[in-house]
Amino acid sequence: MQYKTIHVEASRVYDILIGRGILATLGTLVRPLLGDCRLAVLTDSNVDVLYGNAIMDSLQAAGYNTCKFVIPAGEQSKCAGNLLAFLDFMASEQLTRKDAVIAFGGGVVGDLGGLSASLYLRGVKYIHVPTTLLAAVDSSVGGKTAIDIPAGKNLVGSFYQPSMVCCDTALMDSLPADIYRDGCAEVIKYGMILDKELYSTLHTLPFDREAVVARCVEIKRDVVQQDEYDNGLRGLLNFGHTFGHAIEKLSNFGVSHGEAVAKGMVIAARIAPLCGLCDVADELSALLVKYGFDIGCEYTATQVYEALLTDKKRRGGDITVVLPKAVGQCILHTMPVEELETLLSQVI
Ligand SMILES: NC(=O)c1ccc[n+]([C@@H]2O[C@H](COP(=O)([O-])OP(=O)(O)OC[C@H]3O[C@@H](n4cnc5c(N)ncnc54)[C@H](O)[C@@H]3O)[C@@H](O)[C@H]2O)c1
Repeated sequence: MQYKTIHVEASRVYDILIGRGILATLGTLVRPLLGDCRLAVLTDSNVDVLYGNAIMDSLQAAGYNTCKFVIPAGEQSKCAGNLLAFLDFMASEQLTRKDAVIAFGGGVVGDLGGLSASLYLRGVKYIHVPTTLLAAVDSSVGGKTAIDIPAGKNLVGSFYQPSMVCCDTALMDSLPADIYRDGCAEVIKYGMILDKELYSTLHTLPFDREAVVARCVEIKRDVVQQDEYDNGLRGLLNFGHTFGHAIEKLSNFGVSHGEAVAKGMVIAARIAPLCGLCDVADELSALLVKYGFDIGCEYTATQVYEALLTDKKRRGGDITVVLPKAVGQCILHTMPVEELETLLSQVI
């Protein structure tokens, strides 16, 4: 079995394995790490139908005693009710400290599985097997876990690094086109913020999935190793997200995350030249349109401004936004919030 290994040295040292078809060997790959233990697999209803048997077969073939908990597919499952239900399930299965959680799914399952693992018995080992492009390049890397509460998305969580991430890129063959495209927005983001060469390769479609996932993971790994707890550099990964979150919120989450980030990246790129930075807005817009993104913003500058005032990135009277300096190079730019209001009115 051919796969690429990306080594991460954060508060926990672990490997991210990326390969087409790697799921079939998951059981043997985790054995040196976990030894003999019980494995609680957390997955969602869509992934379970498609690949539930495949993962259980792989683990059982390696001699593992397993149990499985399935949540309904969708963001609404990343909630306190399912967190408690899964914790309760692990307790009823009598999982001990030496046992482990395997989160098998997209970002919803990964975030919920990671948080559950960080809480159960004050922390058990956790392995993420991402099944969406977004989870492969973004949410499975970096150790952020979370659930949503009525007051907002991702408001309850922890930093908890997995013991291994095992990414089978073949699983993404079954992703609906819009979900795959959402992940592409994050891929384009990585190229834009830190890697001009990656960005250029994205003009050829379809891109080499293994190579692109591996490069994105390396980029995020490098950022996370320098700023695991999100106090500075990690903010670069928010390129397009400050404005994107505002648009997501204004649409009452009718605009998907990837589409909102695409719109947000274009807004940021249009603001950059007004702050004395270079103008890559047309170039970036053309690439996003090539991927099928609608980059128009259906809200007014005032609406976007008011929606982002509640953004976490705001500090006192200032706000930090990520702006492109060039293709492959973004910077964190802090300005008074009122200045951003003026800039937004010039670009939307
Ligand atoms: N922890 C982090 O650092 C981080 C970063 C970015 C996003 N997130 C979180 O990730 C979540 C979004 O992740 P997502 O886009 O993966 O969403 P998701 O987990 O809801 O998956 C999207 C849809 O794809 C389906 N699916 C998953 N794998 C499939 C496959 N192989 N074939 C067919 N269908 C499949 C799922 O059932 C679901 O319906 C959000 O909750 C977001 O907050 C977390």
